[in-house]
Amino acid sequence: MEVKNIGVIGAGAMGSGIAQVSAVAGYNVVLQDIYSTALDKAKSTIEKSLGKLVSKGKLSEADMKAAMERITFTTVLEEACRDAELIIECVFENLELKQKMFQEFEKLCKPEAILGTNTSALPITEIASVTKRGDKVIGIHFMNPVPLMKGVEIIRGQLTSDETMGTTLEYIKKIGKEPAIAVDYAGFIVSRLLDVLMNEAVKLVEEGNKPEEIDKAMELCAGHPMGPCKLLDLVGAEIAMHGMETMERDFGPKYKPHPLLKKRVLAGLLGVKTGKGFYEY
Ligand code: CAA
Repeated sequence: MEVKNIGVIGAGAMGSGIAQVSAVAGYNVVLQDIYSTALDKAKSTIEKSLGKLVSKGKLSEADMKAAMERITFTTVLEEACRDAELIIECVFENLELKQKMFQEFEKLCKPEAILGTNTSALPITEIASVTKRGDKVIGIHFMNPVPLMKGVEIIRGQLTSDETMGTTLEYIKKIGKEPAIAVDYAGFIVSRLLDVLMNEAVKLVEEGNKPEEIDKAMELCAGHPMGPCKLLDLVGAEIAMHGMETMERDFGPKYKPHPLLKKRVLAGLLGVKTGKGFYEY
C-alpha cells in the first residue's frame, strides 16, 4: 500500500512536529485536535520551525509554502481519518484515552489504514488489544524536537504484520529519519533509559545538587547533547512521570517515579510547555 495521506491526532509538540516533517516530505497531512487553540498554536510552531530551516538554507521558501499548504488543521476526527492510509496518534499518555481513540480509528479509518501510536512508553499490544486490527497497529515513537532528531523508535505489537512494518519503514525513510527497532515492553528502549536518567536527576536535585551543575556534568563530563534537567524540561515532566509509572506497573518498584517528580508535575512545573521547569522559558 502506498501512503499519501496521513492523519495526525493531537496537535501538541509531537503532533506538530510529525505533521511538519511529513508535509515537508510530500505527504498530505490532516492535523486534528479537539481544541482549536491547540491547532492555532501548532500552526505557528510549524511556521516558526520551517522559517528557521529556511533561514539556515535547509529548506527553500517555496518548499516551506508547499509544506504549509499540504497541512489541513481540523477539530473533526472524521476528517483526519477518512482518507488516511496512515494514522499517527499523539494524544495524552493515558492508556484509556489512547484505547478509546483506537476504537474510533477502527470505526472511521479505511480497513487497510495503518494505525500508528506515538506513545512514549505504553505497550503497543495493550493499545491494540481493544481493536480487531492488531495487524495494522504499530508504535512510531518520534523524538523531541521532531524536526531535528534523526531517529524514530519503531515498535511491533504482538500482532503487527510484516506489511504494516514494511510500509511504516518506507514512511520513515521518506521523511529522512532512521528507524531504531525496539521490542514491545513498557518504555521500549528510549524511555526505558531516558526516563530513569531524568528521574534520577530529580533525586539528585532533592539531595541538594543544582540543576545547572547536573546538566553541566552530563554535558561536559559525559558528552550528552543536553543535561537531564534540560531534557526533562524539553520532554515535559509529566511525560517522564507517566513513563516511570507504566514501567513501575510492569517491572516493579525499581521504576517508581521520585516523589519530587510527582510533586513538580502537580505544581505545573512541566518545563518548556508551561514556561517553567528547572529553568524558565
Ligand atoms: N525546528 C527548527 N529548528 C530548531 C528547532 C525546531 N523544532 N528546535 C531548535 N531548533 C534550532 C535552534 O533554534 C538552533 O538554531 P540556531 O543555531 O540558529 O540558534 C538549532 O536548531 C540548534 O539548537 P541548539 O542551539 O539548541 O543546539 P543543539 O546543538 O544543542 O541542538 C538538540 C539541539 C538537537 C535538541 C540537542 O540538544 C539534542 O540532541 N538534545 C537531546 C534531545 C533528546 O534527547 N531528545 C529525545 C528526548 S526523548 C523523547 O523525545 C521521546 C519521549 O517519549 C519523551
